[in-house]
Amino acid sequence: MELLKRRICDSGRAIGNDILKVDSFLNHQLDVQLFQEIGKEFQRRFRTERITKILTVEASGIGVACITAQYFNNVPVVFAKKSTAKNLNAEVYESNVYSFTKGAHYIIRVDKKYLKAEDNVLIIDDFLANGKAVLGLLDLCRQAGAHAVGVGIVIEKSFQEGRGAVLKENIRLESLARIKSLKEGKIIFMD
Ligand code: G4P
Repeated sequence: MELLKRRICDSGRAIGNDILKVDSFLNHQLDVQLFQEIGKEFQRRFRTERITKILTVEASGIGVACITAQYFNNVPVVFAKKSTAKNLNAEVYESNVYSFTKGAHYIIRVDKKYLKAEDNVLIIDDFLANGKAVLGLLDLCRQAGAHAVGVGIVIEKSFQEGRGAVLKENIRLESLARIKSLKEGKIIFMD
């Protein structure tokens, strides 16, 4: 997606060799107009699928997922929670996720009410690094018996393991910008 790649070049900053900082439009301040173009692009790529729900994980996936849902007939968005909230029903699907970036394990949870066997789920997230968050979301779908139609990612770091891990699950993966490398502060795209 050229518009997104241009924005990454103009506003993104490589930190070390493997982190891309995009706080000004994706992870802290949110550019809603760009999100709309992202939503339209996901719709174009998954338009032949009958999607009944969009699934993401808190926090940064939520904004993109909500705007994207507007291009899929306003299907509900469900976000997996990372914390145990007192108001979260005891009837939950849970999956353990290891974050390499943060060096820690965390549990993601979705109330069983919001993920059903009849759902056709599109998974949306802002970043794909090692793929552990997406694998956790796929695990939640599997537990619910829901059908995961595909995974839509805004920025994929193609030099990490995420793409391989998702494709190994035989799930369609669509990434709008694929980063080949971030070496020496230079942002290089796959194509
Ligand atoms: P993985 O799921 O692909 O294995 O990724 P990993 O656990 O390593 O990433 C942990 C968090 O860091 C994720 O956010 C992910 O989106 C984010 N992240 C990974 N690489 C980058 C990067 O290069 N730049 C930026 N800006 N973020 C990156 P999270 O824990 O879900 O946190 P949140 O921001 O959504 O709350």
